[in-house]
Amino acid sequence: MAMRLCAVVFLCVLVQADAMAPWSSDNMRHKGDADKKTQAQRASELHSFQAESSQMDAWLSGNKTSLKISNDTLRKAVSQHEPLAKQIEDIEDSLQRAQKDLIKKKDAVVAAINATDRTRQLLVRARAALAEAREEVIEANASAKSAFDTEAIAEDHLVQMTICCPDQVQAAKHKMDLRKDDLAAAGEAFHAAKDKLAAKHEAAVLAERASHSAEEELDRSKGAYQDAVGAVERLAAIKLDLSKKNVDPEKRLAAFERSVEVQEGLVHGLEKSSQELHEKVHVAKKIYDEISAVVGKDLECVPLLRTREKYLNVTTTRFDLTAKAYANTPVNVRTSLQPTLWQQRDQKEAAARALYDVQKDCAPASVRLPPPPPLPACDSDTGARCRVLDCWSFLLRASRNAYCSASWHCLCPAGTCAKDGACVDRGAPVSLANPPAELHAGPADVGAALLAAAALVVAAAALATRGRRAPVNMSEDALG
Ligand SMILES: *[C@@H]1O[C@H](CO)[C@@H](O)[C@H](O)[C@H]1NC(C)=O
Ligand SMILES: *[C@@H]1O[C@H](CO)[C@@H](O)[C@H](O)[C@H]1NC(C)=O
Ligand SMILES: *[C@@H]1O[C@H](CO)[C@@H](O)[C@H](O)[C@H]1NC(C)=O
Ligand SMILES: *[C@@H]1O[C@H](CO)[C@@H](O)[C@H](O)[C@H]1NC(C)=O
Ligand SMILES: *[C@@H]1O[C@H](CO)[C@@H](O)[C@H](O)[C@H]1NC(C)=O
Ligand SMILES: *[C@@H]1O[C@H](CO)[C@@H](O)[C@H](O)[C@H]1NC(C)=O
Repeated sequence: MAMRLCAVVFLCVLVQADAMAPWSSDNMRHKGDADKKTQAQRASELHSFQAESSQMDAWLSGNKTSLKISNDTLRKAVSQHEPLAKQIEDIEDSLQRAQKDLIKKKDAVVAAINATDRTRQLLVRARAALAEAREEVIEANASAKSAFDTEAIAEDHLVQMTICCPDQVQAAKHKMDLRKDDLAAAGEAFHAAKDKLAAKHEAAVLAERASHSAEEELDRSKGAYQDAVGAVERLAAIKLDLSKKNVDPEKRLAAFERSVEVQEGLVHGLEKSSQELHEKVHVAKKIYDEISAVVGKDLECVPLLRTREKYLNVTTTRFDLTAKAYANTPVNVRTSLQPTLWQQRDQKEAAARALYDVQKDCAPASVRLPPPPPLPACDSDTGARCRVLDCWSFLLRASRNAYCSASWHCLCPAGTCAKDGACVDRGAPVSLANPPAELHAGPADVGAALLAAAALVVAAAALATRGRRAPVNMSEDALG
């Protein structure tokens, strides 16, 4: 088979070029897996920074409370000159209140940790469900696109059979009906997947909100707990200082002042660390968001590449078959095969370019892609109109050979291109290495000749199917 294909030099080159796909759906899948791993790594980095930052903020809060108590006590001692016994009594009262408060704050932290764990688990589940639903929509979209392409080809086939081979119309019609059913089912599945996605999206947003406020509550309760710790520690220390016997009041004040200064230094240091950690969290969040966007795009690229690869395969296979028939057809019949072959070649080239465009969009920058495959350079519109006059009339002689379209445009039939208002023959769509007479004739070639006969009139089919619409109601975005 490969040898026979190579009887047509042009085909040989094309088959090879297709084999060297520069960025395949498999490459894409591997990249997607690697990116997902990186994303998990970045997520864990982000979480550890967030935890560090939250701890630092709690310490900062606790140390600030501690400083405030020291400072207040110092100011009081300086201004009021209360008797020492009264000062000790006040501090003792405050300390007892602070100790009770500490127990309450501890319970609050435990409850907040419980709530955070719970909402975090719910969020993980909601996100997984959302990712799954998103994947399902993308898959369903790709399937719908695939079903659309396959149905279009079945429709083409039916038109061809209607013109050339009435005995095969029944089978072709049946096949097309099946494809239509497939397409309708694919469209429905796509809509169902989209509805599910919307529901999962809403659930994920709610879970996100619940988790976010639980995290905030946890941070708040940790800060409040650390405040209570600071109050107990500081009040106990002050009580101890005040209870020391035989200390000169001046010396006591001086010691208080030094203590306030030391604590001020501590708080400044903590403020700086807190600031730095907030910055780190910000950067880590940005990096995480970036890789998440990449992962999202990978997810879309895989089925998109797969769909376009499949379509290129279908159009290539079809072209190859016709080209084979063409090569095995006697020269005098060959010309009549040319429109079909041109049409299929154009489809194939357009499919190659469509795949290339997705590859270019999806491949990482490190992958060097070859130059884009050229699109067929053939304009079918002569520019003339035929609402009043026939395209081939004397007055519109320039658009000779054109036919009148449903929208009153003079268009060139397949195998010809508009040039200076006229339809010009495109010549041979493939260059043959050997004259067909030298090919070894076998049973397969008889089949090929039959195929050639069937394809003779496909040019007409091209006209009939131009501007075809999707036969079932599918939203525009289902078709790429
Ligand atoms: C200490 O208290 C005084 C007045 O009460 C206030 O002006 C000062 O800012 C406080 N210092 C600190 C470090 O809190
Ligand atoms: C966490 O909350 C759940 C439900 O609210 C409760 O059943 C469980 O006892 C709590 N656990 C702790 C350690 O508070
Ligand atoms: C004050 O900060 C230190 C860390 O520098 C921390 O170990 C300590 O627990 C904090 N004190 C309070 C009361 O939060
Ligand atoms: C087309 O797909 C078939 C199977 O579906 C495969 O065997 C063949 O190699 C593919 N051809 C190309 C050119 O990718
Ligand atoms: C397609 O939509 C039109 C109007 O929007 C409606 O009348 C028709 O029944 C729909 N067809 C199918 C197959 O859903
Ligand atoms: C469906 O796929 C096309 C490309 O084939 C894309 O442009 C479109 O955005 C997709 N729609 C959805 C809802 O994913």
